[in-house]
Amino acid sequence: MTKEIKDLTIHEAAEELEFLAKEMAKSDVAYYQNDAPYLSDAEYDRLKHRNSEIEKRFPDLIRPDSPSRRVGAAVKNGFSKVSHRFPMLSLGDVFSIEEVEDFIRSVKRFLNTSEEISFMSEPKIDGLSFSARYEKGIFVQGATRGDGTIGEDITENLKTIRELPLIIKDAPDILEVRGEVYMSKTDFFKLNERYEKEGKKTFANPRNAAAGSLRQLDPKITAERRLSLFAYTWGEVSERLWESQQEFFNHLHNWGFPINPNNKLCQNIKEIEESFAKLMEIRASLPYDIDGVVYKVNSIALQERLGFLTRTPRWAIAHKFPAEQALTTINNIRIQVGRTGALTPVADLEPINVGGVVVSHATLHNEDEIKRKDIRIGDTVVIQRAGDVIPQIVSVDKTRRPLESKEFIFPHICPECGAHAIKEEDEAVRRCTGGLSCPAQAIERMIHFVSRDAFDISGLGDKIIEDFYHENILHTPADIFTLEQRNSGGDDLFSVGQGLHLERKLGWGKKSVENLFTAIRAKRHISLPRFIYALGIRQVGTATALLIAKNYRNFSVFMNDMKNRITEKLVTIDGIGSSMAIDMVEFFQEPHNLEIINKLLSEIVVEDYIDTTDYNSPISGKTIVFTGTLSTMTRSEAKAKAQNLGAKVAGSVSTHTDFVIEGVDSGSKAAKAKQLGITILSEQEFIELIK
Ligand code: IVH
Repeated sequence: MTKEIKDLTIHEAAEELEFLAKEMAKSDVAYYQNDAPYLSDAEYDRLKHRNSEIEKRFPDLIRPDSPSRRVGAAVKNGFSKVSHRFPMLSLGDVFSIEEVEDFIRSVKRFLNTSEEISFMSEPKIDGLSFSARYEKGIFVQGATRGDGTIGEDITENLKTIRELPLIIKDAPDILEVRGEVYMSKTDFFKLNERYEKEGKKTFANPRNAAAGSLRQLDPKITAERRLSLFAYTWGEVSERLWESQQEFFNHLHNWGFPINPNNKLCQNIKEIEESFAKLMEIRASLPYDIDGVVYKVNSIALQERLGFLTRTPRWAIAHKFPAEQALTTINNIRIQVGRTGALTPVADLEPINVGGVVVSHATLHNEDEIKRKDIRIGDTVVIQRAGDVIPQIVSVDKTRRPLESKEFIFPHICPECGAHAIKEEDEAVRRCTGGLSCPAQAIERMIHFVSRDAFDISGLGDKIIEDFYHENILHTPADIFTLEQRNSGGDDLFSVGQGLHLERKLGWGKKSVENLFTAIRAKRHISLPRFIYALGIRQVGTATALLIAKNYRNFSVFMNDMKNRITEKLVTIDGIGSSMAIDMVEFFQEPHNLEIINKLLSEIVVEDYIDTTDYNSPISGKTIVFTGTLSTMTRSEAKAKAQNLGAKVAGSVSTHTDFVIEGVDSGSKAAKAKQLGITILSEQEFIELIK
């Protein structure tokens, strides 16, 4: 049984704080380095909470490595500058093994030796370099590289990276550890996916995402973005305890820094070549981006003899991977049809290895792109892969164009269903007019219908839907809800013409089929916003669906307005414009769509939207900004409360802001509010106001 905090003696408190710091650090390492969580999220949060509660009672006991120190206060006026006593250098680049040989020769010549020299080979991490300063074993300052001489103070931001030890044991009194901060490919994709959903601008690659995240004035944002790091060199150090790069890595490891598992000591050029080849090979499967290999003379004594050129050491070099571009030919240009009928051209390529990944397709974006670049079947093209994104065609090598080559004519009929495909004058995309009689659109729409933010039926994966469509089992979303009845009704009833049991069809056990039916049954009641979103109306995402639900509250009311082309109400909704309104009205003019909706409505219940907003509250219709940490509720709670009272919650202060609610450690927002003369309320005053 854990003791209540009020009963803890100062001794017990100190012991427990130490235990908590260690336990959570251990969990951080497990989570970030070994990818094997050691505490559950809930347990982690519970420990974190207990840690801050104990600290609240015993502020003198707060440890330098306390988990609560990981998120500090925002910097107000930009980052302050840090001058590097030992400059952060860069490396000379080479692109071929011959140049690496030249480099090794010049090292030997400089040292006037013919003996083999050993080199440490390290993946060149594609991130941002950092320097972390420790005094008497305690992390005191973090800096970016900047111009190499003067960087920016990112102490608070670095602290949020849980892999960075805040205390190190048996270290020199002064020690600067340097390395690379990066964002893993997985975290990069997750972040972009979230940003895309929220309608924010996405990052082009993990490096940009890492840079943007690390250089956030508000370290809370850095903390949210999940960064990682590898340590690989040092700056100022009061006592050098190592004689080689390899020994330095051993120290880093003992101090608790993440070091790259692919660092390897090479005794000769052959081993260097092998390490390069191996890294090239595993490059694509690594969880982070690397853009080459760094070779460093292992012995520090030799490094010191070799010294530096102006900005680069003579004892190290970066062997860069060839650019991720390649020349290949276009075998075919295919047209894909999406949920809304958009025709997207895709190039089928002669498969080619680009930076360790075999590429066989590239997107051509749209009709105009093909015209602009004059891309033709049979062309030899330069393709490029940037990170893991879909490969693009950079240019066409027209000198290699076959004589019989013809300009690519973009089809004016849908390749999937034969309906006309039309292109509005001001649009880049051509669309199929076949609607649901077009198989591609029908399948894509069902996939959308069951997706997470819509009906969320996870048992119906893309592949199953596709198969069921072709097997005549599912044609429209409405068929999903008659599936069980048709299945239990025997062979004849089940599928149109096929006479097969679902169990047999899927090769699933009875239990799995039953699970699918249970999942479908559970969705016979659906909320209004989800239902509207699930319909797959052009331009209607989750946010728009919610706006419609809030304003119409009942599906039939909305549908009747749309059928009758009544848009007065629609266009007065803040956030819905006339082009969206047109798409909605058009959707409900289509007989196919109405037929499916009516079938659906006979199978399922669309719940009315219950608006809990209290329009009589003093904050109804007002715009509110929260800043700082609130003590009696979380930010999301406060936001939900305000919204329920009819307020709009904004992220930043402007002249449209009515109230700023100020918590503890509020930053620039409160200052800006003061400047603009906006009413600032304390948390207590806000609670009084909304009571
Ligand atoms: S050593 C004096 N090792 O590459 C040596 N750098 O072009 C300083 N980098 O600015 C750097 N991985 O940001 C070193 N294993 C590694 C590296 C590495 C990535 C970056 C670093 C540096 C740049 C040099």
